Amino acid sequence: MCGIIGIASNKSVATNIIQSLKKLEYRGYDSAGIATIVNGDIDEKKCIGRVDNLEKILFKNPSNGPLGIGHVRWATHGIPNQANAHPHSSEEVSVVHNGIIENSNELKKNLEKKGYKFKSQTDTEVITLLLTDFLKKFDLINAINKTLEKLNGSFALGIIFKKYNNVVVGARRGSPLAVGYGPEENYLGSDSYALKSMTNKITYLDDGDLCVLTSGKVEFYNLKNIKINKEILTLSNDKHAAEKGDYKDFMSKEINEQNITAKTCIKEYVDQLKQDINLYNFPIKPEIINKIVLIGCGTAYHSCVTAKYWFEELTNIAIEVDIASEFRYRKIIFDSNNLYIFVSQSGETADTLAALDLCKKNKAKTCSIVNVVESSIARTSEFVLPIHAGPEIGVASTKTFIGQMLVLYILAIKISEVRKEISRSDYTNKINELKKLPDLIQNTLNCQDKMQIIAKDFLQARGAMFLGRGLSFPIALEGALKLKELSYLHAEGYPAGEMKHGPLALIEEGLPVVILAPKDRYFEKTISNMQEVIARGGKVILISNESNNIISENVRFTLKIPATDDLLTPFLMTIPLQLLAYHVASLKNCDIDKPRNLAKSVTVE
Ligand code: G6P
Repeated sequence: MCGIIGIASNKSVATNIIQSLKKLEYRGYDSAGIATIVNGDIDEKKCIGRVDNLEKILFKNPSNGPLGIGHVRWATHGIPNQANAHPHSSEEVSVVHNGIIENSNELKKNLEKKGYKFKSQTDTEVITLLLTDFLKKFDLINAINKTLEKLNGSFALGIIFKKYNNVVVGARRGSPLAVGYGPEENYLGSDSYALKSMTNKITYLDDGDLCVLTSGKVEFYNLKNIKINKEILTLSNDKHAAEKGDYKDFMSKEINEQNITAKTCIKEYVDQLKQDINLYNFPIKPEIINKIVLIGCGTAYHSCVTAKYWFEELTNIAIEVDIASEFRYRKIIFDSNNLYIFVSQSGETADTLAALDLCKKNKAKTCSIVNVVESSIARTSEFVLPIHAGPEIGVASTKTFIGQMLVLYILAIKISEVRKEISRSDYTNKINELKKLPDLIQNTLNCQDKMQIIAKDFLQARGAMFLGRGLSFPIALEGALKLKELSYLHAEGYPAGEMKHGPLALIEEGLPVVILAPKDRYFEKTISNMQEVIARGGKVILISNESNNIISENVRFTLKIPATDDLLTPFLMTIPLQLLAYHVASLKNCDIDKPRNLAKSVTVE
């Protein structure tokens, strides 16, 4: 992951680099750094931890260069310390990097033989020293190309030079990079979000592209070193969505916005007049689909698992779900009548993108469900279904999980209707129920205070379990993931019926166990599993839309969520679990928006 920013200007760039790095912190926050050209020399400043620390260093000791690069790091090679922080500079060049150089050890050995000394444990420093070496014999573009030819792996790079002191160079292979155009200055950034406060005119680099920025112009070169023209896109302005407003953190804003997320998404897809779902130019005729394969990572994967139940319930199509990092290395038998759906909030997750590339190479039909419509996954897939959730800043996905599930559910009912697997009246009923969802989400959000009380029980716990059956099983997985991500508490999500095959051994006196038991066809079975947990001392938190006092006996807390169509319960079940994770983390004083060791956009394998 890691975030990159570069600015070529005629005035001091440090303040704008710092502001952009703050926006990029969601990509990594182990360390931060900046390099500018001051009085003809490279001036590098870096620190461990957050951009705030870098800002303090610059306040005491300004760096007033008219062009520069900045970086926030998510450590891959080498621990998070100052020496490993980017930029990595020699006398001649300074480099910021996102990605992994797979042959760095071999390159390092060769450079050491030539007498070069390494200051860090990173893979990036080989780029700095290779470039320094090639610049002795070649001009700017040739030295860069010679360097890039030596690298295996993935990268997005930002580079400045002592000799060519009016240019910032960017290069992309496998990791995202964008160029922005401003008045009398130009920008390089890991994504449009980082550049948006400065410009809404953006060009995305494709793999193999190189760009050379000066304050007055931007030039692009392709893999063959040929100058190319690239499209300039004008982005919409959703500045306010990316502000915290009165909320303490982005995550509480994003959780509390979920009724609006749902409303916006439904409005985008449901034709209010015709009571129909808009789905034009879908890449494959729904009638001929043999199999749907759903692929994602983390929370996005959980939305895929949820969708498997919906598609199976509503269509006769065979469904497979896969974690992208597994899919990309499996021996897959592709079929032109299969549809491969890629789910990703950021649209930049390296594993998901690689799995998509594999499908494209095999000429498979692809569709993506993303939040960032300008992203690599959106641009690579044949067809995009945006979730319209607006920027999500908190590292742990919340509103975009609701958005991903919504689009998948909408797709499932539409495909079912086109294939005539549900009647027209069932289809209309489902749409009508769907339209009630934003209000139901809003009602469910009223459980804030109760979840705050319940959260206290988790403070002394050694771990927690989340159990559910059917559509509640993937939500149990997501509930456990949220608790892990935010509060660093060990948590397991399990199908309730699987407990007796091992995990029941984990139940001990006082272990918090969250039971998801909506009044669906699994209800009685789940309640029996709950009793098995209670009998072994588990402290049960029951979440259900059924208020049966007898069932609630011996249960520590019962939370009633609104009743709805069985197929829609995952949306409502999710909300108390997000709030639970939020409040446990908050009571433990964890960094809610930036949990340790994680990053929002994972652009490395
Ligand atoms: C990271 C984030 C997770 C997210 C996953 C997939 O691990 O920390 O919250 O679910 O990436 O991200 P994507 O952008 O592909 O949905």
